[in-house]
Amino acid sequence: DARTGPPKKERNFVKVMQQEGRRVIFFYGSQTGTAEDYASRLAKECSQKYGVSSMAADIELYDLSYLDQVPEDCLVFFVMATYGEGEPTDNAVDFWDLVSEETPQFSGNDSDEKPLNNLRYVAFGLGNKTYEHYNEVIRKVDTNLKNMGAKRIGERGEGDDDGSLEEDFLAWQEDMWPAFCEAMGVDENSAQSGPRQASFRVEELGEYDQDKVYHGELSEWLKEGARIVYDAKRPYNATITSRELFKGGDRHCLHMEIDISNTNLSYQTGDHIAIWPTNNEIEVERLATVLGLADKLDTIVHIKAIDAAASKQFPFPVPTTYRAIFRHYLDICAAVSRQTLMSLVEYAPTEKAKEDLKKLASDKDAYRIRVGDVTRNLAEVLEMLALEESMDPNGAFDTVPFDLIVESVSRLQPRYYSISSSSKEDPKKIAITAVTLDYIPDAASPRTVYGVNTNYLWRIHEAINAMEADVVVPKYSINGPRNVLMDVESKVARVPVHVRRSQFKLPRNPTVPIIMIGPGTGVAPFRGFVRERALQKKEGKPVGTTVLFFGCRNSQQDFLYEQEWPELFETLGGESRIITAFSRETDQKVYVQHRLMENGQEMWDLLKKGAYVYVCGDAKVMARDVNQTFVKFAQQFGELEEDKAQDFVKNLRNTGRYQEDVWS
Ligand code: 2AM
Repeated sequence: DARTGPPKKERNFVKVMQQEGRRVIFFYGSQTGTAEDYASRLAKECSQKYGVSSMAADIELYDLSYLDQVPEDCLVFFVMATYGEGEPTDNAVDFWDLVSEETPQFSGNDSDEKPLNNLRYVAFGLGNKTYEHYNEVIRKVDTNLKNMGAKRIGERGEGDDDGSLEEDFLAWQEDMWPAFCEAMGVDENSAQSGPRQASFRVEELGEYDQDKVYHGELSEWLKEGARIVYDAKRPYNATITSRELFKGGDRHCLHMEIDISNTNLSYQTGDHIAIWPTNNEIEVERLATVLGLADKLDTIVHIKAIDAAASKQFPFPVPTTYRAIFRHYLDICAAVSRQTLMSLVEYAPTEKAKEDLKKLASDKDAYRIRVGDVTRNLAEVLEMLALEESMDPNGAFDTVPFDLIVESVSRLQPRYYSISSSSKEDPKKIAITAVTLDYIPDAASPRTVYGVNTNYLWRIHEAINAMEADVVVPKYSINGPRNVLMDVESKVARVPVHVRRSQFKLPRNPTVPIIMIGPGTGVAPFRGFVRERALQKKEGKPVGTTVLFFGCRNSQQDFLYEQEWPELFETLGGESRIITAFSRETDQKVYVQHRLMENGQEMWDLLKKGAYVYVCGDAKVMARDVNQTFVKFAQQFGELEEDKAQDFVKNLRNTGRYQEDVWS
């Protein structure tokens, strides 16, 4: 047989549903895995509680032009996240393009004006209110599906990741399930929460070829033959160096440089770099201990979905070890969710622990005080409950099935950083500027909080210093895939990375003036911008006015890249300059937006000359205040009414002349 390779995946989801006997499909558009988790949870409840066979599906894996073929007694859920500036997630781009077309082409191809007359659907969106385009994706999907004749069941749900995503999700379900039952002809009262059914089968393996065991690599790493393209599925293990820009208390700011020479990776000034973190060994051991797995950390396990139709057959690369799962594949350092706590109630070791766990899972305030606000992770909560019962935490929760942990703890995701170097100047070296926290391993009380992202880079920094000083690298500091992340012998540190393109870009024409606003680490991409413009100037090109508004607490403490700016701006010359706002040097706080206001007339004149505006940093307050300041300019200097002034700034945004790279 000349044919090679696996059979092509069936992309007609209606056919798959029929073959597998499923009446409901839960499509997810997910970037960081939350929408995926939500879709899986809904699918599980649908099958188990309401007895309606269902499947969760990555929207990227199917051809959605078959939406017009969905039988009338079936139902399609859309659980869609909105990303950045009102964009769909990477896996939902095709679907987004399809529903955004004026006359989408569905498989039936008939000329019916309303191609989706037969379709019934349910909609839930995940968004973030600090961004301008809140839940834009689900709103547009909902509107367009309706316009094409589809009928929505229940209300459209929207969750706000900035405040209350989980609460919004739970609240929405209260009315959604009754509507669902009515639509599917299910008697709501017969719904039952019987015994839990596992989603994954976990098998411990004995002897196994170690070369085939994943120790933190991503799925593509051990596959041979394919041309190597480094991306989100196959990050590159890059060497990294680090230097400290400032230190204040346990807050540090690091300038790190990542070497991508020897690879086909490239980046452009303004892009983001994804760094794949490793969980702290202390947290790995804490969780293993409380689950009674401390002695089995290096046991090789294979894990597979029980449902053959599940779109993800493996939760992460397998076979692997418990240790690798805790270190690299599960987000064990995040605050544990109420949902996860609820699922563990029946495995609590004592009646009181059961009650306490139930309370944390069901009482919003108790959860907020003891878990949410203090970012207690799963292991810390279980440990706390055991200690309160005067139990030895070791093995206190050893009856929890491991597949439940796999099912309910999110996958560890990469962290994104704005690149702070210029690709024209350093095409093969990527700089980042990151604020980090120390990790104090035996922090007792008061508890300090250590999410994975806040201390991972710091641990790398410490390990690099230790290697260079020839002192022992702390055990808790770093352990990478196959332990190669720290090569003590050659004193090299490595991190898995990939590059993500962003829209945040300098104007193509360097003569266009630019106004940059970046307090704190928001200055990161602007270091790249300013370096790039200075380089162009040095090369003899005409470069437009380049103004940077930078803010920090104190000129002596956290003035990032203080030594670099004078030379760069001297090169740029003319009106180009850095304008600083030191917030804690005077009685009254001085912020970047105040400095912007003081220079209002000049900034307005630059705008009139076609200047581009860039804002980077805190999304919630700073970016809003800066936006408001530009609205004021349009009122004051452009003599526009308030609403016209708002439109003026909106128009700048729509034409790419007001760009944001913000986070919350
Ligand atoms: P603060 O911490 O003294 O209030 C970098 O974090 C700088 O941004 C600090 O000087 C910080 O000031 C300042 N900052 C805090 N909130 C801000 C806001 N809403 N707008 C602009 N700058 C802000």
